[in-house]
Amino acid sequence: MSLPTTIKQWTTAQDGLENLTQTTAPLPTPGPDEVLVKIRTVSLNYRDTEPGGKGEKVLIQGTGGVAVSGLQIAHASGAEGIDHYLFLGCEARVSEEVGSGQNYQLRMAINGMRPLGQPGGKGEKVLIQGTGGVAVSGLQIAHASGAEVIITSSSDAKLELAKKLGADRTINYKTIPNWDEEVLKMTDDEGVDIIFENGGAQTVQKSFECVAFGGLINCIGYLSGKQDAADDRTNINVLALKRNVTLKGLLNGPRERLEEMLQFYDEKKIYPVVDKVFGFEESKEALIYLSKGGHFGKVVIKVD
Ligand SMILES: NC(=O)c1ccc[n+]([C@@H]2O[C@H](COP(=O)([O-])OP(=O)(O)OC[C@H]3O[C@@H](n4cnc5c(N)ncnc54)[C@H](OP(=O)(O)O)[C@@H]3O)[C@@H](O)[C@H]2O)c1
Repeated sequence: MSLPTTIKQWTTAQDGLENLTQTTAPLPTPGPDEVLVKIRTVSLNYRDTEPGGKGEKVLIQGTGGVAVSGLQIAHASGAEGIDHYLFLGCEARVSEEVGSGQNYQLRMAINGMRPLGQPGGKGEKVLIQGTGGVAVSGLQIAHASGAEVIITSSSDAKLELAKKLGADRTINYKTIPNWDEEVLKMTDDEGVDIIFENGGAQTVQKSFECVAFGGLINCIGYLSGKQDAADDRTNINVLALKRNVTLKGLLNGPRERLEEMLQFYDEKKIYPVVDKVFGFEESKEALIYLSKGGHFGKVVIKVD
């Protein structure tokens, strides 16, 4: 394969998504235990809308192919997740646009169910917050595993889409701000067994109010912010022990669970939901679109 001498990249000076700049850079040379990956498709994550340090290159999670390999192919250096795609052969199962949406969301979603080896799903009630990438994957997985699913959204139109994917009950958290009380009503005051806590600071207390005795709250994201309101002196210790709750932080991984999940997707014929596909030249618009939260499922960039 003949390789170009330069690559295209989007960089940020941490001064807002509107000011992302497209530049060119020399083609990187992989080290002895690295691979160079030609990216074909990228799916966006919420965190990509808040790039880190000055001059930082904007994130990448996606599908691609190996262009050049080092002596021992182990990991695509610095490219979280790409190694899993390369070596799991995910592209053979679904289109690249769809496959690129799987990595983070899948692993988050499967980790959000019961720990490996523990039965979960049938007979359980699962609460999912919002309708972004993690939430929609969680909805699909929980529904396919036989759980009863309650999902929240700020949009009635999105809640209708969620019903089509198997949501049993829906709550608009804008029109029903005390959605925790609504969850209790829906569950005969018992609460839900598992919560996908995507909201963070402004939602976690309500999650404690509507989790079942012995339930599991998965801390996944902070869509509502990272700081509690000034008048919110929530004592997590007391909240957790009140109902014997497990509060679990979730990070991506491990690889075994992704493999388990891909198999589950095959068996249950689940296809990740892609909201919209943008071209590489439209990457800035794609990130702005994601940051406004109008999507349902994943936002994807097709690189070539
Ligand atoms: N721990 C990890 O390793 C990991 C991995 C991936 C993602 N995450 C985190 O998980 C969260 C979700 O990620 P994502 O990629 O799914 O994000 P996303 O696609 O950008 O999710 C956006 C959606 O979240 C919903 N939302 C916003 N504020 C909310 C609130 N206060 N309550 C309930 N829902 C709210 C909205 O849904 P509606 O429009 O329906 O209202 C919005 O459309 C993010 O915080 C992300 O950083 C963590």
